[in-house]
Amino acid sequence: MTFHPAASHARDHAAPAAWWRHAVIYQVYPRSWADGNADGVGDLPGITSRLPHLRELGVDALWLSPFYVSPMADAGYDVADYTDVDPVFGTLADADALLARAHELGLRVIVDLVPNHTSDEHAWFQAALAAGPGSAERARYHFRDGQGEDGSEPPNNWSSVFGGPAWTRVTEADGAPGQWYLHLFDPKQPDLDWDNPEVRAMFEQVLRFWLDRGVDGFRVDVAHGLVKAEGLPDWHERTGMLGSAEKPGEPHTSVDVPEHEAAHDEPDRAPMWDQDGVHEIYRSWRRLLEEYNPEDDPQQDRILCAEAWVQPVERAARYVRRDEMHQAFNFDFLQAAWHAKDLREVIDHSLAAAGSVGAPSTWVLSNHDVVRHASRLGLPVGQPRPNGIGIGDEQPNAVLGLRRARAATALMLALPGSAYLYQGEELGLPEHTALPDTVRQDPTWSRSGGAERGRDGCRIPMPWEAGATALGFGDQAATWLPQPEIYRALAVDRQAGVPGSTLELYRTLLTLRRELGLGLGELRWLDDTPEEVLGMQCTGSGGAAVTVLANLGEQAVPLPPGEVLVSTSTLTDSSLPADTTIWLRS
Ligand code: NOJ
Repeated sequence: MTFHPAASHARDHAAPAAWWRHAVIYQVYPRSWADGNADGVGDLPGITSRLPHLRELGVDALWLSPFYVSPMADAGYDVADYTDVDPVFGTLADADALLARAHELGLRVIVDLVPNHTSDEHAWFQAALAAGPGSAERARYHFRDGQGEDGSEPPNNWSSVFGGPAWTRVTEADGAPGQWYLHLFDPKQPDLDWDNPEVRAMFEQVLRFWLDRGVDGFRVDVAHGLVKAEGLPDWHERTGMLGSAEKPGEPHTSVDVPEHEAAHDEPDRAPMWDQDGVHEIYRSWRRLLEEYNPEDDPQQDRILCAEAWVQPVERAARYVRRDEMHQAFNFDFLQAAWHAKDLREVIDHSLAAAGSVGAPSTWVLSNHDVVRHASRLGLPVGQPRPNGIGIGDEQPNAVLGLRRARAATALMLALPGSAYLYQGEELGLPEHTALPDTVRQDPTWSRSGGAERGRDGCRIPMPWEAGATALGFGDQAATWLPQPEIYRALAVDRQAGVPGSTLELYRTLLTLRRELGLGLGELRWLDDTPEEVLGMQCTGSGGAAVTVLANLGEQAVPLPPGEVLVSTSTLTDSSLPADTTIWLRS
């Protein structure tokens, strides 16, 4: 039995309860949510038509992955025009209609901002290619001469996150091999040079463009990557998104978030990630957003949320200091092993780090970059998180995975702070783990030479109606990624109104969360629980409390007395079964 000293995390009662401090935000991956024009790819009109689903689910906001003009080398995270909609997704008028409908339904809308890199088809990059070495056009990106006598070696040894070198050599106008440009991701995603004032000015315009159209905020892609260490020094470790040498699960250090900028003293900080210079950019963006945010009404706040794969969590907290972003994704929770002790440590640590700068913590279990948690949690506990699962790989235990996923979600939705859901998790969708490699589109698959399956398996089009073409995704049977047959039984219409279904579980959890004001209240650990049982008392904003018990162990444990508000698996006697979370009225 492990017992921990009781700890309490109180909210800052002086701070106004702005919506983003407790919001549940649902991620829509536009290619895969709903296809309005029968071309097999999701689009904005499709999304608009399905928005009532989110209203019925009970979330507060949606976050849209990129829908901008793009050659789709990285599914839209390669933007060729930041202020227009790609024809595959619709038009600007469709974006306006989506915003209007969402707002009518009481849903806020967050859009994705991709500032680390453009597409190589962006007008700026095309101009840089044409203008040649030493030009102002090239100075917006990281162009360098190669090493070696004939410049045939890349300027440094960095590798790309998707595999292969992070540099590509261009052919100059005279047909000769020329300079190299940096791309932390695909060669079709050249990195911008954020030391260049033109780059800063362009993104300020982009922010204003979407704010003026009425968006409620931005999820900032690769927020920890914009600034690179001076001189672009060699780096001898892998260029994963998690740049620091500290790995998830390793012991954390102090919760102090130093105001001084000290990263250069840390020899293990990767030169492409989490450089201190990024913070001035976010301070300037916060000032820009404040022009739109009425001082006296935090319910109208437009927000910034950092996607920063940064370790330890204190470094992530630096992105949400009072004059920077509002939220940062908390990937530690997603990466924690299925053990009560690990989850408790992560929860404590996350709340302490975010709280030390007055920010809410965020929680997320799935997104478009990771194996869905209904599958991930069905893999043996403690093994490294795979980047995709395919034919021939170890297959997750689907029943166990879903059972644990439901328990994990019920735990997450009781926690203080803001929670992110990924489309389809409310249906308990598993990863598509039998996707033929021939249809894979994620550049990770080809760039890694087939070593990593990549992220296609979590991006499969949504099943809405079991009996309809493409399971109701749209009128084109051939969807851009094929839907597995197992999605049919999980379609929305198969689960709506069915007691015990995952959809009804999510609806119940979200209704209770709203009624009890969870997300804004306090968390107090209950220490008299068995070793693999997490016990916490969560107080809502109105003072009502729920007792949350999550049994992560393999054995059932006695159920304490109390009215069960919700349980993630069927209770047959007075015990709490394995891999189950319950909320009890306390
Ligand atoms: C993070 C996004 O979530 C991911 O999908 C994308 O591939 C990279 N950033 C590069 O933009």
